[in-house]
Amino acid sequence: QERLKGLAKGNKPEPTHVHVIGAGVMGGDIAAWCALQGWRVTLQDQSPERIAPAVGRAGSLFRRRLKTDREVTAALDRLIPDHRGQHVGHADVVIEAIFEDREAKQQLYQAIEPRLRPDALLATNTSSIPLEELATALSRPERLVGLHFFNPVARMQLVEVVRGGQTAPEVFERALAFTRGIDRLPLPVASKPGFLVNRILMPYLLEAVELVEEGVPPARIDAAALEFGMPMGPITLADTVGLDICLHVARILGEAFGLAVPVRLEQLVADGHLGRKSGRGFYRYHKGKPIRTR
Ligand code: NAI
Repeated sequence: QERLKGLAKGNKPEPTHVHVIGAGVMGGDIAAWCALQGWRVTLQDQSPERIAPAVGRAGSLFRRRLKTDREVTAALDRLIPDHRGQHVGHADVVIEAIFEDREAKQQLYQAIEPRLRPDALLATNTSSIPLEELATALSRPERLVGLHFFNPVARMQLVEVVRGGQTAPEVFERALAFTRGIDRLPLPVASKPGFLVNRILMPYLLEAVELVEEGVPPARIDAAALEFGMPMGPITLADTVGLDICLHVARILGEAFGLAVPVRLEQLVADGHLGRKSGRGFYRYHKGKPIRTR
């Protein structure tokens, strides 16, 4: 509980309840991470069938990271499915991780804002929608902040804490403290396209894709990057992130900074080759594991 002290205000009880909306790739794993860190977590999704797999993944994480069965059971007890979002009004921190769709997010905010506790932190995991646009749906836009986690949540230490044009300084400070409280490293960033990480990472990935287009074998590019000291080659990384997600971010950065989107990337996505998750991208995969070819 020591680590949560930064969030404590006056003699009010320490915040302990996170409500996550969206139990997909990110929301499910963010919920699991917060439960692992000792928070009570409620997890909401409009498709109830998304919640059970997220809880299943959480169980695997808890078994890997916790020592005893008792601790695993306690962590699982802290992660509570909430199909209808009945707990949103009790949470200290609400994290939205639904589809990357501006209108869907805005509609959700309109629906939940009247139910939020006045002091609740409202955070979005958006990777590309300006916070200023999302905040127009709120009667108190100053309460919205970005918490941009990276995939996979349990392995990626960094969280970009995004300050929108209207985010209140006190809200931003609490978001930084919350991030530290769940044992992640907060990186303060402005609400600009790509924030910081994707703005740097994406040109590097796209340049590697250009090289493939020029005829250099993906494995040779990846091997060179590993030699250089990168933990993973750029082509493997693109396949791992998901080529659809790369394309989406590339288009946004392309518009903002005049970055060219490689035809090869567009083609693969159009053909349904989305990388590791679909079994094929630049490489082929079986059950998420690369198939070695010569
Ligand atoms: P996903 O498609 O895996 O999951 C989204 C979930 O939200 C689905 O389970 C869906 O049923 C649920 N949902 C949609 N509308 C809802 C609503 N109105 N109420 C309740 N649940 C709703 O998406 P993913 O990849 O987890 O992305 C979520 C957010 O995180 C997006 O904003 C995305 O840009 C961002 N993000 C994604 C990363 C990634 O690597 N996938 C990395 C960092 C951020």
